[in-house]
Amino acid sequence: MGDLEDFIQAPEHRPKLALSHADGIPTIDLSPIFNSLPGSDFPHDLVHQIASACTEWGFFLVVNHGVPPEKRHRIEAAAREFFGQSLEEKRKVRRSEGLVTGYFDSELTKNVRDWKEVFDLVVEDPTIVPASPESDDEELTQWTNQWPEYPPEFRESCKEYVEELEKLGHKLMELLALSLGLSAKRFQHYFKQQTSFLRINHYPPCPSPELTLGVGRHKDPGVLTVLAQDDVGGLEVKRKRDGEWIRVKPVPDSFVVNIGEITQVWSNEKYESVEHRATVNSKRDRYSIAFFFYPSHSTIVEPLEELIGPQNPPKYKPYSFGKFLANRKRSNFKKLNVDNIQISDFKISPANPN
Ligand code: OGA
Ligand code: NI
Repeated sequence: MGDLEDFIQAPEHRPKLALSHADGIPTIDLSPIFNSLPGSDFPHDLVHQIASACTEWGFFLVVNHGVPPEKRHRIEAAAREFFGQSLEEKRKVRRSEGLVTGYFDSELTKNVRDWKEVFDLVVEDPTIVPASPESDDEELTQWTNQWPEYPPEFRESCKEYVEELEKLGHKLMELLALSLGLSAKRFQHYFKQQTSFLRINHYPPCPSPELTLGVGRHKDPGVLTVLAQDDVGGLEVKRKRDGEWIRVKPVPDSFVVNIGEITQVWSNEKYESVEHRATVNSKRDRYSIAFFFYPSHSTIVEPLEELIGPQNPPKYKPYSFGKFLANRKRSNFKKLNVDNIQISDFKISPANPN
């Protein structure tokens, strides 16, 4: 990883000692969804647990989630092999302006101070997106994957893993819908032509972990994120109740689920997307795999009709998810000195009523 100076965070963003996970995010056992009869509703208790986790935390762990552990272990092993290669090898599949998938490290995106390297892939290959933030809906382009030659099982292990995570993502969306008082399949159609992607994160050991972060504080822009973190740990969540950073304890074979900003808009802020970050450590390499569940580019994101009314007027203006995505991708490359476009840009405030 280049010079440490390039990664030093402003003092207010450095990791103070986070609180322990004693009073941490809830763990939800999903086994009831596999035991319920086809066509019948999910158990009320499970739906209730989802509702309270989403309201109080915006984050929860899932266990007995149906993803076979061996598929997760296979992609984790392939990721270690891939990142273990020389920089030169890895950069053969580097991300570039025309190609948003593949390998990149913070050297290639100088505006980011994250102590990590990543590999990105899209779930739908090709993924259809607007050609630019300005283009109208007619002008579309495709994002495709690129694959490393080594290790040979990399591609297949990613594909298998993504299929499983997609199934889990849909189950979680059914639970989320029920927890908001909607029908189970309410969200399904948004994911035809989804723009979801998988990001494999590698956080190398850092000589001065107290000066930097693996990934700085941020919110995830999508619908929801399902994260596999390894046994090293480092994920921290900003607790809604008091703003304290809480460490998320690694639990073998569990996933960490968090609400993205689209769900915040859809639910008209009943569920909020919560800030999180990842610390690094001085001794061990850490890996995590994030599945970002994103809707179709053609989705106009706005508070759901059923969830607004005279007592609860919409808190957001509609926005095009495709344009949002195109904007984000562009600012990743142009090294612009402007902030990324945020969901909060679409918030309706008294000062900004239109
Ligand atoms: C992310 C993220 C946390 C982690 O990639 O969006 O929040 O623990 N990662 O790797
Ligand atoms: Ni994140």
